[in-house]
Amino acid sequence: MWLLFLPELNSTSLRSRLLTSPIFNPISIWLRIRDMAFDIDLYKERTARLRWDDLDLGSFSTNPLDEGVLRCLRYMHDVEFHTVCYLRDLLLTPAHSDPLVTSFLSFWVYEEYWHGEALAAVIDAHGESSGSQRIAPMRLGLGAKDKIRPYIMSLASTLVGSDFVALHMSWGAVNELTTQAGYAQLSQRANNPVLSTLLSRIMKQEGMHIDFYCSQAKQRLESSNKARILTRAALKKFWAPVGSGVMSGEETAFLANFLFGDEFGMESVERIDRRVDRLPGLAGLYLLQSAVTQVRSQAPVLVKTA
Ligand SMILES: [Fe+2]
Ligand SMILES: [Fe+2]
Repeated sequence: MWLLFLPELNSTSLRSRLLTSPIFNPISIWLRIRDMAFDIDLYKERTARLRWDDLDLGSFSTNPLDEGVLRCLRYMHDVEFHTVCYLRDLLLTPAHSDPLVTSFLSFWVYEEYWHGEALAAVIDAHGESSGSQRIAPMRLGLGAKDKIRPYIMSLASTLVGSDFVALHMSWGAVNELTTQAGYAQLSQRANNPVLSTLLSRIMKQEGMHIDFYCSQAKQRLESSNKARILTRAALKKFWAPVGSGVMSGEETAFLANFLFGDEFGMESVERIDRRVDRLPGLAGLYLLQSAVTQVRSQAPVLVKTA
C-alpha cells in the first residue's frame, strides 16, 4: 500500500508495474534472499484453488478487454489447461519416484487447473466459448506428435536415468519464469484493474512454482556433471516458448511480440535469462532473448503499449 503514496510513483502504469512485479512477492523474496531449499510443508499449507468470486467480471460487458489482450488470454487459457498433459510426460521419468517432487506436482497441477478456469471465466465474460469447449478440439488436433511423446520420454529417461529429472526441473524453471513474466506484461498492456487483480493472484502462485523448479534444478545440476551437460545441450537444442508445442506458430509469435516486443518486454526477457544464468552449468544460454528475437523476425506485428 505504501507504494500508492510515493509521489514519484504517481503513475498508474509504473505503480502497477511495481505491484505486479515478482520481486514484490514477499514469500519469493524471502526464499531468494536466503537461497534456501524449497519448503514443501509451507507450500502444502499455502496451496489453494484460485478465487475470483469477489471480482466484478461483469464489468467486462461495459469495459471489454482489447482484442490483443483477449488473444493472449486465449493462449494462456489453453496452455494452463494443458498442464495436466505435461504432468503425464513428467511422471514417465524417474521424477515419479521422488516423493518431494510428486507432492509438489499434486498441488501444482491443481493450481494450474484453476488458473485455466480463472482465465476461462474472463473469456466467458466476453461472450466467447472457453473451458472444455475450447480444450477438447485443441487436444484432438494435436495428432501423432502428442501420441508418441510418452514413448520418447519413457525411452529417453530410461537411457539417461535420474539426471533426466534435472532437465525437466530446469525446463520447468524457465517455463514458470516465462509464464509469470508473461502475466506481468499482460497486466501492463491491458491496464484493467479487474484483470490485473486476477493476474496478480495467479502470479503469486507462479512465484511458488518458480521457487520449486529453480530449487530442484539447482540441487540436481550442482550434484551431477552429466546432468549439467545434458540439460545445457537439451535446452539449447530443444527449448521453445511455453505452449509453442501445442499452439500454432502464428499464435506463439503474436504472444511473444505483444508481450515482449517492446523495451519493457525485452527487459523482462533479459531478467529471465539472467535468472537462468544462475543455475549451475546454464550460464550464457540466452534462451528467451533468442526465442523472442526469432519470433519477432518471423512475424513482426505492431505492439500496443499500455
Ligand atoms: Fe499457471
Ligand atoms: Fe505455474
